[in-house]
Order: sequence, then C-alpha cells, then structure tokens
Amino acid sequence: MKVIEVKDYAEMSQKAAEYIIQKVCQNPRIKLGLATGGTPIGTYKNLIEDHKKNGTSYQNVTTFNLDEYIGLPGENKNSYRYYMNEQLFNHIDINLNKTNIPKGDIKDMEAECLRYEDLISKHGGIDLQILGIGSNGHIGFNEPGTSFNSITHIVKLAQSTINANARFFNRVEEVPTKAITMGISSILKSKEILLLVSGENKKEALSKLLNGEINESFPASVLKNHPCVTIIADKAAVAGLKVHS
Ligand code: PGA
Repeated sequence: MKVIEVKDYAEMSQKAAEYIIQKVCQNPRIKLGLATGGTPIGTYKNLIEDHKKNGTSYQNVTTFNLDEYIGLPGENKNSYRYYMNEQLFNHIDINLNKTNIPKGDIKDMEAECLRYEDLISKHGGIDLQILGIGSNGHIGFNEPGTSFNSITHIVKLAQSTINANARFFNRVEEVPTKAITMGISSILKSKEILLLVSGENKKEALSKLLNGEINESFPASVLKNHPCVTIIADKAAVAGLKVHS
C-alpha cells in the first residue's frame, strides 16, 4: 500500500480528484467504483470544477457505487442515488444510464444482489475503486465480521455506523438499519483502489489498517492483500502513526 500524506481535507480532496482525472484522461471508458459519505464530497467538488474549467469528459465513463440503504427510493434525499446525483452526476456530462447504484427499494433484494454483482462482472470489473473507511474499519457497508469472500449482499448496519450516519438525517431513528453493499471480495476484484482518510476520528482505524493484522474483525485490513492500493490521508488522520509504504 502506498500512503500519500497531505495537509488537510482540502488537499486530500484535490489530490484525489487529480488522481481520478488522470485515470479518466488515460482511459475515457474507465469503470469507476464510487463511494458516498462525508469523505469524498470535496473530491467530487474538485471533479466538477475541473469538468467546468478543463472539460474533462465523463460521457463514456461507467460508475458503480458501493452501497445503498434498504428502504430508501432514489428520490429520497438520504438515498445514495440522490447523493450521487446531487454531489456529482448532475454537474458533469456523465450519462446517467451508465451510473449504477444497487437498488434498495425493490421486493426481491436477494435477486438485486446477484444482478448487481453480475452487472459489474459483465462490464469487465472496476478499474479504479474509491473508498472511505468507517471508524470501525468497514469498507462499503461491510461491517466487522463480514467474510472476506463476500459478494454483493444485504447487511444489518452496526449501531456505530447508524450513529455515525445520523448526522445526515433529522433523527437517528430515521437511519435505515439495513443496506445492500458490494462484498469484500467484490471490492478486492477492482484493479486499483484509492482509499481516502481524513480527520482525527479516523486515526485509530488508519493505525489498525497500517499496523494491525489482516483479520475479518477489521474489514479494511483486507486491503493489504490487494496489489494496488493508494491511501491519501491527511495530517489529522496520520499524525504520529508508523507509516510503512
Ligand atoms: P464518512 O464515511 O466518509 O462519512 O466518514 C466513510 C465510511 O463509512 O466508509
């Protein structure tokens, strides 16, 4: 794993955007894996700015998001479909038909899991997956204890995840308790992974990732098994940690 240390959230967002833009320019038909949450918002802002200023085109790009809440239709402000449209897709020239997010509001969720996993395979897999990390080490919504062999599946969210995400809802009771997420094995199949880590509240998770063992009790640790992972972490997250690259 290569670790790039940056000053702060703004620099992390800028570096991450530059990284993605370079990949899109090299391969305009790239398959991008995208993440939601607080961490990538600044990165998406930078992508939009660059698109407006420099005309980087996403017309032929296909995207796959990691996860979606169960029970929220795409029109719901807290769904990840809504988030992606608002934070990125509506402001660049991407074809919305090429943006894929697991559906959280259909009857047969087991079938949706298989459909989504299959869809990624049919497109030849993800070239570059953007990831955040939960303070409990989750990636996507793969909570501690998830099998490293998991593919897209339904999860019950950890209480710590529900509490962490309550900031986006009016009340903690409104946070869905279940989600559909790409599995750990699905994520690891990506050819390349870019993990973004910002803030003191992620320091312990980053420390475990960099210096701890590979174990299903800490899902992100599996990234050590992947041959091409870049971590962009800001000072608040990295301060005082032993960083082996
Ligand atoms: P955050 O979430 O970006 O909102 O901190 C990251 C995650 O839970 O994966």
